[in-house]
Amino acid sequence: DLVILAYSGGLDTSCILKWLIEKNYDVICYMANIGQNEDFEKAKQKATSIGAKDVIVEDLRKEFVSNYMLPGVQMGLVYEGRYYLGTSLARPCISVGIVNAAKKYGAKYISHGATGKGNDQVRFELSVYSLWPEGKVIAPWREREFFTRFQGRADLIEYAKKENIPVSATPKEPWSTDENIMHISYESGVLEDPAAIPPPGIFKITRDLKQAEDYPSNIDIIFEKGLPVSLRIPSGHAKSLVISEPLALVEALNKLGGQHAVGRIDIVENRFLGLKSRGLYETPAGTILHLAHLDLEAYALDREVLRLKKYLQDRMADFVYNGFWFSPEATYTRKCLELSQESVTGTVTVQVYKGNVVILARTSASSLYNKELVSMDVAGGFSPEDSTGFININALRLKEYARFSTQSDK
Ligand code: ARG
Ligand code: SIN
Repeated sequence: DLVILAYSGGLDTSCILKWLIEKNYDVICYMANIGQNEDFEKAKQKATSIGAKDVIVEDLRKEFVSNYMLPGVQMGLVYEGRYYLGTSLARPCISVGIVNAAKKYGAKYISHGATGKGNDQVRFELSVYSLWPEGKVIAPWREREFFTRFQGRADLIEYAKKENIPVSATPKEPWSTDENIMHISYESGVLEDPAAIPPPGIFKITRDLKQAEDYPSNIDIIFEKGLPVSLRIPSGHAKSLVISEPLALVEALNKLGGQHAVGRIDIVENRFLGLKSRGLYETPAGTILHLAHLDLEAYALDREVLRLKKYLQDRMADFVYNGFWFSPEATYTRKCLELSQESVTGTVTVQVYKGNVVILARTSASSLYNKELVSMDVAGGFSPEDSTGFININALRLKEYARFSTQSDK
């Protein structure tokens, strides 16, 4: 039987590859390029040398940015108030790629190296079953035979050595990393103690605050219906640099944000299975885009729509975190959220400096902002006496309550 294995080139999935072959499966490795720093050629050779029938490397960077990351900004997806869902958004994107490969090659199974305690197993498998209901999944870390044989890294390394699987000479970092163009996450190992300050030198794409540039950088971010569509970066000359291709836009903001130490967090989050986990994230472009979008939205939207949208975006963030990107509730909620963004068109000027994203100004032709109406200098068609009645009516209930509560206090 043919299995398509989501392969990373690392120790775990290399041992899983060997183990599947040992169990008489034919295995094709699938590697999605979603912007991680990886030597795909080397990984390909490694998988072939272990015995993979074929290795597919697919560049999904544009799909990931345009269909997952930027819609995440548009919808305002933030999990538990801080996490921009870089890994959660990537899983359905990779799942589409792997399911397409399975169908193309006539595979019966998909396999992955996610552990039994995590979110990723849920995301992969729910996405796979939604896209391919008759598909089957092999999750070795949940197979008794596998997890009793390999209890930790040491067992995997020993197995790799015995089976001539190349093990990197430089010992891997003592934590787990997940990288794509949106973010890098760091979990487990020495990070498992939430009371322990992480060792220095973990982060890869953002500088430490102390090493941040000494000058501020300004950027104009242009949104159309809530989606970031281009950047204008003043270049010191008369003409500024304009970037409109989505992937290039994200890369430019990652670079700039990284230089200014923007986008790091250290949080404890609630996994879907019910356990808590501590993680570090660096999300430079995503952080800048989310904060700029938040500003434009408040400027453009009706107050009540803004509040309903806030409720829906929190629900949607949970759906995405929990692996329900492809689900009736996510499809419905996404449509509602997109509808809220019709008027979120305009430009936000931000300054990145010493870890901060400072909003400097915003413009929008579709904003409900009315300069005359709010002005302290002109009436703008507003009649002040109306506010007297507005306050009196609102105070009615408070006065009644005050009368009652003072009585019962006596
Ligand atoms: N905790 C984050 C999430 O659930 C990151 C998971 C990282 N995954 C990984 N395979 N290292 O989205
Ligand atoms: C894993 O358990 O494989 C990584 C962490 C997660 O999925 O939450």
